[in-house]
Amino acid sequence: MSTPTAVWPIRLCADFDTAQVIENACLIWREGILIYAGCVDASPIELEHCLVIAGGNRLATPALIDCHTHAVFAGHRFHAARGGATGPGHRADEFEARLSGASYADIAKRGGGIANSVRMTQAASESELYLQSKPRLRALIADGVATVEIKSGYGLTLDDEAKQLRVAKQLAEDLGLSVRKTYLALHTLPAFCSDANSRHDWIETVCRQWLPELHQRGLIDAVDAFCEHIAFTRSEVQRLFEAATALQIPVKLHAEQLSDQAGAALVASFHGLSADHLEYLSTASIQAMKSADTVAVLLPAAFYCLRETKLPPIAALRDAGVKMAVATDCNPGTSPVTSLRMCLHQACTLFGLTVREALLGATLQAARALRLDDRGRLAAGLRADFTLWDLQHPAEIVYWLGPVPNHVYAAGRLIS
Ligand code: NIG
Ligand code: FE
Repeated sequence: MSTPTAVWPIRLCADFDTAQVIENACLIWREGILIYAGCVDASPIELEHCLVIAGGNRLATPALIDCHTHAVFAGHRFHAARGGATGPGHRADEFEARLSGASYADIAKRGGGIANSVRMTQAASESELYLQSKPRLRALIADGVATVEIKSGYGLTLDDEAKQLRVAKQLAEDLGLSVRKTYLALHTLPAFCSDANSRHDWIETVCRQWLPELHQRGLIDAVDAFCEHIAFTRSEVQRLFEAATALQIPVKLHAEQLSDQAGAALVASFHGLSADHLEYLSTASIQAMKSADTVAVLLPAAFYCLRETKLPPIAALRDAGVKMAVATDCNPGTSPVTSLRMCLHQACTLFGLTVREALLGATLQAARALRLDDRGRLAAGLRADFTLWDLQHPAEIVYWLGPVPNHVYAAGRLIS
């Protein structure tokens, strides 16, 4: 058996449930899996039998998990100028338009928004898409993250969706990051689907051809859709979820962001992983989520960027005992954000989560939203995914805005 590796001395916060900090602690692992997490005095293995990394008495916590991103997309004028994209493109223009009074829905109706990023993502080569996306993933890692969910949805053709998902997979390999790949099958319609028939046919192509094909290529861990008055209806989403369920692929949903479509109840009826956004969530949908153990993924940066005023019903979710995760929603339109810690801060200041809830939301609950039971806390038998922070107290992970020095380990390997 190979020699175990240990990090010592550390101050260990093995989970944010108790948030207890153990002094003079160590983590010991072999082949990426923890053998021990606790006080060095109680360790079952002497440190002299380990390869020991100096912990410098840093605060060690579970590595953070970003369970909702669209981090792989194209769209910079710099690249467009080299012949990639056509049209107005850069979505900072839309930010300015929104500041001047246009709404996200107005921009989408004019053919901007998601459709803009689709044009640029389709025009980008796979290597260009990879190069543009890599810094965003690096930034997430630098913020303490070791697992990221990445959605497609800017491709809208089989080849371009596959391109996005392959880039996500390649980035995971190259950066040492865990990536869960989500096929965001119904994000927006291609421009040519201008009537009810072409709309119906396109959704059928997605469900009957592309979904099984991408699944067969091993590119999908979950399926997602955007259920909204500017996107897809409940019955269209239901059609997709039936197709995914027949292939035993778990589902999740962008639900109740701009209006109540009872999407959260729909995804819960499929025992979905999560319902995400949820500003307009109803009491009935909360009960459905609780019964199905569907996680509520809160995206405060999107709320902030769109200058929303309607808050998700946090107290009701809490009272019902629905698990709450927090994620970046990193995307070029509503959340150009690569700091999960900033989103935790916003979850507290804007949504009223406690610091403990926010930290759990980016670890244990985020792991549950991805149905990963091997991470989100530190204990023997789980992955050695941890972050060493130059901080005194776990609350500081949420408190500081801006970078905090840290080292991130994924499966026991230093990735940042
Ligand atoms: O999570 N809801 C749809 N998708 C993204 C926005 C994507 C975009 O504007 O590019 C979201 O809000
Ligand atoms: Fe999103």
